[in-house]
Amino acid sequence: MALLYDGSMRILSGMQPSGDPHLGNYLGALRQWVDGQSPDAFYCVVDLHALTLEISPEKLREQTLNLYATFLATGLDPNVCTIFVQSHVPYHAQLSWLLECVASYGELTRMVAFKEKSQRQEGYRVSLLTYPVLMVADILLYEATHVPVGEDQRQHLEITRDIAERFNHRYGETFRVPVGVQPKVAARVQDLQEPTRKMSKSVSSPLGTIYLYDEPQELQRKIMKAVTDTDGEMRFDWEHKSGLANLLEIYASFSHETPDAIAQRFERYGDFKKDLAGLLIESLGPIQRRYRELRSDEGYLRELMAEGALRAADQAGSVYRRAATAMGLL
Ligand code: TYM
Repeated sequence: MALLYDGSMRILSGMQPSGDPHLGNYLGALRQWVDGQSPDAFYCVVDLHALTLEISPEKLREQTLNLYATFLATGLDPNVCTIFVQSHVPYHAQLSWLLECVASYGELTRMVAFKEKSQRQEGYRVSLLTYPVLMVADILLYEATHVPVGEDQRQHLEITRDIAERFNHRYGETFRVPVGVQPKVAARVQDLQEPTRKMSKSVSSPLGTIYLYDEPQELQRKIMKAVTDTDGEMRFDWEHKSGLANLLEIYASFSHETPDAIAQRFERYGDFKKDLAGLLIESLGPIQRRYRELRSDEGYLRELMAEGALRAADQAGSVYRRAATAMGLL
């Protein structure tokens, strides 16, 4: 389902400040957020989530500010929706604890993201396992009906629904049960060098990842070097031509055509890639300029963060108290 704001929706979504934002974050999530913004929409930089993997305090501080500025630069308006930092609203961690008493160990170990990330490092943190519960808390605190995310978050949305329903069943009707929303194209942007793997903040792939703040020459280089195939036929086919299909979806999400129509317009990969690079440079340019301006005024960002946190806490506090009371806490 694509996000089409209709007035009865309550929206919540979040993004980790765990690395520089990339094209997958923009097309899979941020662009939908901008479409869905309203006084009933809440968007947060989920800094607590970023602590599940190793990150230095300096980097976390820096990247939290960067990502908050990115939210604004891509078009979120603090006069329209609420934009905040997760750790500024203590109810997230508090509700997460209550929900850990409802979630089961088994369902958390079955999470694909946990399996993948825990394999990549020895001595991983307990929070890597319990992370989805914090995400469930993020969502339920805002009584979200819709959660705009990329395709990789689907399993986390399922567990959100399971835990909300289990809680309601055990303790009485407390939480609204949300649905996930994904864009029609580019819900899963793949790595340009390894198109069978998703573009990701946590895996280093210098040529395979397009960052929102890549310079024009860099954007051009990455697109021209993107892996395609050798049959040379312009056709949209994920199964046999995933590299090209990925590029066609990226193109389609900026030009608002269908990937098939774009494939028909071009004869040669080279011409198509050149056009795509131009489209990216043109589309990301204004975001990059706004970002540089916003990021240069940290005082302003911190002011907005404080206002956002107050608004968010107002909403989250009432739901937290309802849940705590339902469980028997005085
Ligand atoms: P995160 O920070 O990894 O990613 C943020 C958003 O970007 C989307 N995304 C992608 N979309 C398309 N293609 C890709 N290659 C790609 N990579 C990332 C993600 O689907 C996501 O929507 N657990 C979440 C953060 C979170 C959250 C929440 C989300 C915490 N609490 C509450 C929604 C609601 C995460 O790690 O996303």
